Amino acid sequence: MEVIITNSADEMSKKGAELVAAAVKKNPKAVLGLATGGTPVKMYAELIKLYKSGALDFKKVRSFNLDEYVGLPGTHDQSYRCFMNENLFNHINIDKKNTNVPDGLAKDIEKSCAEYEAKIKAWGGIDLQVLGIGSNGHIAFNEPLSGAMSKTRKVAISQRTISDNARFFKTMDEVPKTAVTMGIGTILEARKIVLLASGGNKADVIAAAVEGPVTQLVPASFLQLHADTVFVVEKEAASKLKGKY
Ligand code: F6R
Repeated sequence: MEVIITNSADEMSKKGAELVAAAVKKNPKAVLGLATGGTPVKMYAELIKLYKSGALDFKKVRSFNLDEYVGLPGTHDQSYRCFMNENLFNHINIDKKNTNVPDGLAKDIEKSCAEYEAKIKAWGGIDLQVLGIGSNGHIAFNEPLSGAMSKTRKVAISQRTISDNARFFKTMDEVPKTAVTMGIGTILEARKIVLLASGGNKADVIAAAVEGPVTQLVPASFLQLHADTVFVVEKEAASKLKGKY
C-alpha cells in the first residue's frame, strides 16, 4: 500500500487523474473501475481537461461503475448512470456502449449481478479501480460487516450512509435504502486501486483504514491486503495518520 498526502483537494484530484491517465496511456483499451460521489468530481474534470487538450484518448477505454441505487432509472438525476454521464462520459470520447453501471431496475437482481461479475471477467478484469471512502469506512456500498470475499449483490444501505446521502434528495423518504454494489472481493480483484479522500470528516476513517487492523468493521481496511493500492489523501483527511508517508 502507498499513501500520497496532498496539500489540497485540487492536488488530490490532479494526482488521481495522473494515475488514471497513466493507466490509459499504458493500455488504450484499459478497463477502468469508476466511483461516484463528491470526491472524484474534480478528478473527472481533470480527465476531461486532458482529453480536450489532446493528451488523452478514451475511444477504446472501457469502464465498470461500482454501484447504483435500486429503483432509480438511469435517467433519474440522482442515479449513478446519470452522474457518470454528466460528470465524465458526456465530455470525453468514450463509447457509451463500453461503459457499465449496475442495473438498479433489473427484475432479477441476482442474475443481473452475476452477469455484471461475468462481464468484468470477460472484458479482462479491471485494470485500475477508483474509490472514495464513506465516513463509516464503506467502499462502494460495502457497509461495515461486508465480507472480504463479497461479490456484486444487492445490499441495504446503512442509516449513516442514508443520512450522508440525504443532501442529494429533496426529502428523506426519497433517499434509496438499497443498492447494487460490486463486492469487496470484486474490488480486490482489480490490478490497481486508487482511493481518494479529502476533508477532516474523513480523518478518523482514513487512519482506521490505513493503520488500523484489517476488519470488516472498516471495509476499506481490506485494501491493506491488496498488492497495489494507492491512497491519495488531502492533508486534512490525512491529519490522524500516525506514520510519516
Ligand atoms: C460511490 C461510492 C461510495 C462513495 C463514498 C464517498 O460510487 O461507491 O462508496 O465513494 O460514499 O462519497 P463522497 O465522495 O461523496 O464522500
